[in-house]
This record gives sequence, C-alpha cells and structure tokens, in this order.
Amino acid sequence: MPAPSLPEPGPASYLDALRADVLAGLTATPKSLPPKYFYDERGSELFDKITRLPEYYLTRAETAILRQHAGQIAALAACESLVELGSGTSTKTRLLLTALLDHGTLRTFVPLDVDPVVLSEAAAKLSADYPGLQVAPVVGDFEHDLAALPCGGRRMIAFLGSTIGNLGPDARASLFRQVAEALGPADTFLLGTDLVKDPARLVRAYDDRAGVTAEFNRNVLVVLNRELHADFAVDKFEHVALWDAGHEWIEMRLRSACAQQVTIGDLGLTISFAAGEDLHTEISAKFRSAGLQAELAAAGLASRRFWTDRHGDFGLTLAGLAG
Ligand code: SAH
Ligand code: AVI
Repeated sequence: MPAPSLPEPGPASYLDALRADVLAGLTATPKSLPPKYFYDERGSELFDKITRLPEYYLTRAETAILRQHAGQIAALAACESLVELGSGTSTKTRLLLTALLDHGTLRTFVPLDVDPVVLSEAAAKLSADYPGLQVAPVVGDFEHDLAALPCGGRRMIAFLGSTIGNLGPDARASLFRQVAEALGPADTFLLGTDLVKDPARLVRAYDDRAGVTAEFNRNVLVVLNRELHADFAVDKFEHVALWDAGHEWIEMRLRSACAQQVTIGDLGLTISFAAGEDLHTEISAKFRSAGLQAELAAAGLASRRFWTDRHGDFGLTLAGLAG
C-alpha cells in the first residue's frame, strides 16, 4: 500500500482555534484551557510515557480487554473500515486491526488525531507492519471533523483510552450525536471508558510519583509560549489532581505558585493570576455502565455488548444505532 499522506485541515485552522480557545479560556472565571492543546510532539511523548506508569492502570486494563475479546469484536463488527478517534500511537488498536484482518473484512484504517507528528509516525509504522491494509490518516478534531471522514463499506468508529472522559457532559452528548449521524445501520461504535473506583487510586493515576503527569499538565503552557508567544513561567505553576465526587471526575489544574502576570503576545493580552489561583486544564470523567448506556441512548445509540477487565477497572462498549 502507498505511504500514507496527511490531508488538510492544516496548521492555520489549528492556530485559529488555539487563539480563540485561549482567549475565551483565560478570560473566563475560573480560568481554563481545553485539554487537546496538551498534545504537541512532546505532549504525545509524555502521554505515551504515562501509559506505562505503574499508577496509570487504564491502558493496561483496556489492552487486557482487547486481548481477550478482539476476535469477538471483529466477528460482531465485520467492518471494512476502522476509524479511530484520538488515535495517538494506535498501539492497542493493533489488537483490533489484527483481529479484523484475520476475520477477513478490513480494508482501510483511518486514524484521526489533532497531533500531526504522532499521527504520521503511527501511520508509517502501521503501513509497514500491515502491508495489505490501506492506512489513511486524518489530522483533525474529533469534536468538529466527524462528518468529513471518508466512508464507504461497513464501518466501525473506535474511541479508545477513555478520551471521551476528557469532554464535559454537553460535549460528550454532542460527540455521541455526531457519531450516531455518521453511522449506518450495520456500522458499530467501540467506546473505551474508565470506570468509577477508589478515589485514592484514581488520584494516584493522575499524580504519579515520577512527575510525568505533572510535566504533561505543564506542557500546555509550553505550547502556549511557543505557538502564541506567551511568557508563562512554567515552573511557577504546580500540578494539581483532585477527585470531584459530585461529578465523578478527576480534575487536573495548574495552581499559580505566586501572584504573577502572563502576557499572550499574539493576543495582545495580559492576564493576572493570584497566588494559589487555579487554571483548569482537564477533566477525566469516570463512568458507570448504566449512566453510560443512558448517555448513548439519548444520542440514538444502543449498547450491544459491554466488557470489563477482570478487576472491573475499565469498560469497553460495542454500540450501534438504536432501533
Ligand atoms: N487512543 C490512544 C491515545 C489517547 S491520548 C490511547 O487510547 O492510548 C488522547 C489522544 O487524543 C492524543 O493522541 C491526542 O492528540 C488526541 N486528541 C485529543 N483531543 C483531540 C481532539 N479534539 N481531536 C482529535 N484528537 C484529539
Ligand atoms: C487521554 N486521556 C484519556 C487521558 C486521561 O486519563 O484522561 C489523559 C491524561 N491526563 C492525565 N493523564 C492522562
């Protein structure tokens, strides 16, 4: 198969979105930034390191589910194309690709990610390792670009890693509706979700001893300094991970260590932080099976199968259009 190429949208639309999101987020109360801006080349490397940390059980748990059930998923989905949202390195996805190729239906893999570097590296490796598979990567935003994805033949959309938990309830509802609109009657949606558990274990997974998650969190400031000529003093922001029991999500924040001002050069904006003021950088929602089924149903999606790992840490749902 030919080497994969990366179609538009390109850096201009990324920068436009970054400017608009940063202006809105840093002038709001409380201040916030969307988590998608963690993922430049360094951010994707740091996330990859996170997946191997002893405290971060999510990737190992989802991999265990896929190891055990990929054959059954392939038989149920029997898809000709697999679209992966927020694909990153697509490491776990190899279990699905192999099972679908063994099943004999899969022709095309469409990984979609906001980080062009992680995407092109993953696509090149996959093209080399799966010579019979057409790999067609798309640089894009899964909140906006679903309708523009190539289609044809029976399709499975996979959204692994519990990245869905990085969206708030309204954004999740909107994404599920867009997935339902993109699916045909025989298509499927495979969704990975981290499950509610002991809060102390959850906090440890987002505040590891080696400090990798702290560096990942601060990386968003490095991105703003480079892309928007901002002057965040990155080491004057402390990593915070806390469990919000009401919403059942982990919150990551960056806490200003002192009173300080930050200028965002490209926006002509100067922002003041009080000592101890938090910049909200990510939520990571944790799910319960019944609540998840209700969210999917509200978007017109029906859960057909639900698997967990042997510890009940993580869930994988195979869904399709309801009715
Ligand atoms: N699916 C992989 C990677 C998860 S990390 C796994 O399960 O391990 C989250 C990935 O989603 C990163 O690669 C990041 O670049 C991508 N991402 C985050 N927000 C995105 C968005 N809005 N649109 C597209 N990709 C996004
Ligand atoms: C990509 N996403 C599912 C990760 C998570 O667990 O919410 C991002 C992450 N943030 C901190 N550690 C990992």
